[in-house]
Amino acid sequence: MNSKAIVVVSRKLPQAVEGRLRHDYNPRFNDEDRLYTKDELIELASGAAGIVACHTDRLSADVIARLPDTIRVIANVSVGVDHVDLHAARERGIAVTNTPGVLADATAEVTILLLLGAARRASEGERLIRAGEWNSWSPSFMVGTQLTGKRLGIIGMGQVGQVTARRARGFDMTIHYHNRRRLPPDLEAGATYHETPEALLPHCDVLALHCPAIPETQRLLNAERIALLPDGAIVVNTARGSIVDEAALIAALRSGKLAAAGLDVFDNEPNIDPAFAQLSNTFLLPHIGSATRETRDAMGFRALDNLDAVLAGREPRDRVA
Ligand code: DGY
Repeated sequence: MNSKAIVVVSRKLPQAVEGRLRHDYNPRFNDEDRLYTKDELIELASGAAGIVACHTDRLSADVIARLPDTIRVIANVSVGVDHVDLHAARERGIAVTNTPGVLADATAEVTILLLLGAARRASEGERLIRAGEWNSWSPSFMVGTQLTGKRLGIIGMGQVGQVTARRARGFDMTIHYHNRRRLPPDLEAGATYHETPEALLPHCDVLALHCPAIPETQRLLNAERIALLPDGAIVVNTARGSIVDEAALIAALRSGKLAAAGLDVFDNEPNIDPAFAQLSNTFLLPHIGSATRETRDAMGFRALDNLDAVLAGREPRDRVA
């Protein structure tokens, strides 16, 4: 008889990660890689010891309350855990883990891509060529914002924020930031710390959001705070859509208060507000910040290290609940 623990794997994972799961556990894979309904997930969890989850799963209090008693761990393949009701998991004694530290490079790369794409009107240019509508050139054609030497403001100076700052220094950008705690001088590396978002925003030619989605950061970038940005600023978000008041962002993009936005994350993904795609001054990506082969392997293995630890009775490295 196979005595390996049963583990539900909610989405398709890299081959090597699924290989390790197959070797060590009795995995219930999602070969079709479709989003399970709440009821399906609960049913699949019957007799299982753990769930390897993703940010697309909605592990709300009602779902967690209905999980079988056999579930001991939700090992997320994500750094963000806003899709899990941590309080409900704690109440039921289910450990929850995430994957910090392994996706900073990939996410910072996408931040720079968004920054450049938004500043240099890449989406507009691409669409013009693909539509066969590029028919002239002049010195006033598709003029954008130059990033070199500009001020980059970062809200959330964790690992992703710090790598973004390092990459942006390659464009001679000066770095300003707001974080819950000021960084020590070696990590700050000359960046200017601002104690509040309000103090930071007037110094941002470009604003990059890298803070976690927690109740305190919900709609952090709202109309009042957008008004504090310099006219013609650019906003970039690779964190979570819930950090931004999207109606206020769209209004500022329409009015010209903001020159452009580069967005990889949205409210209600993948059914995002259609206004984003209608605006010409947006550069949009479908939540691919960590989507590189290297990083998805690293995230998967880190999630499995956490899963292994909990199921072996050890403290996991990345426990969030
Ligand atoms: C994360 O790790 O939080 C990314 O957004 C992918 O889920």
